[in-house]
Amino acid sequence: MKKIGVLGTGTMGAGIVQVLAQNGYEVVMRARHQESIDKGMAKVEKNLSKLVKKEKISEEDKAAALGRISGSTELSIIADVDLVIEASTENMEAKKALLKEVDELTKPECIIASNTSSLSITDIAMSTSKPDKVVGMHFFNPVPAMKLVEIINGLLTSEETNKTVTELSEALGKTPVQVKEAPGFVVNRILIPMINEAIGILNEGIASAEDIDTAMKLGCNHPMGPLALGDLIGLDVCLAIMEVLYTQFGDPKYRPNILLRQMVAAGKLGMKTGSGFFDYS
Ligand code: CAA
Repeated sequence: MKKIGVLGTGTMGAGIVQVLAQNGYEVVMRARHQESIDKGMAKVEKNLSKLVKKEKISEEDKAAALGRISGSTELSIIADVDLVIEASTENMEAKKALLKEVDELTKPECIIASNTSSLSITDIAMSTSKPDKVVGMHFFNPVPAMKLVEIINGLLTSEETNKTVTELSEALGKTPVQVKEAPGFVVNRILIPMINEAIGILNEGIASAEDIDTAMKLGCNHPMGPLALGDLIGLDVCLAIMEVLYTQFGDPKYRPNILLRQMVAAGKLGMKTGSGFFDYS
């Protein structure tokens, strides 16, 4: 495994690109707009500069990592990669359309990993001609700091494909866990309903946003409160995951809180828009 393509340069995509480049992989990143590629590169640059400042890496390490990254709006940039990691918008139809194109463009032996946070890998895989080479590789935000990768086999994923991405996760300094395909996998099935519940508590006026987060930080030793964490993940992503849990399980306990819907409708998506439950401007 030498050359890896990353599709998407958002919060997750840029983090994945950084971690791959820092670990010696040649990375090509693709986004639909040049502006997104520039923003993704700027994020990686900024993060690497912070590491230099903290004396975790040298200026040379930073330059070498950046030298391993190239970006393009053309999907053909991934034609010769060994692995594609798809980190695009959490929408099944959009992912399927994209991966159909990826399948046609890449080498037959190229593995396709999806960073989906809750969608079915089996469904995603069926948009390609080689579902045995499609697997879930779910990173956590912020990718450079979070040690976990959930590895998810679709119904048709081969053991060889699973082994390749499991070993890659380890080579990146992460701890992989094997998860059977199920809505939300492990972490998001537990975490996102917790965030939704915190939003419900806020909406009912039981406590302020600050106090809800303080309660969970000091009462449960969580590094961040659930509302700040929702802002970090992106409230649109939280809503999309709740919708998947709600529709797939059909259980009202997964119903997205009305305030979560309102926040998304109002464009208050959290850190990425400068405003969510807290202000980031
Ligand atoms: N990008 C890259 N690295 C970052 C970062 C960022 N945005 N934020 C923090 N880090 C790194 C820092 O560089 C630092 O690394 P070193 O120890 O090597 O110096 C480390 O993380 C700790 O950072 P800080 O000391 O600055 O800050 P902190 O101790 O307050 O930790 C945090 C920040 C890591 C974000 C911590 O608050 C935390 O763990 N929060 C919970 C995050 C979480 O639960 N993420 C999962 C979200 S769910 C998800 O992603 C799945 C999904 O599908 C929705």
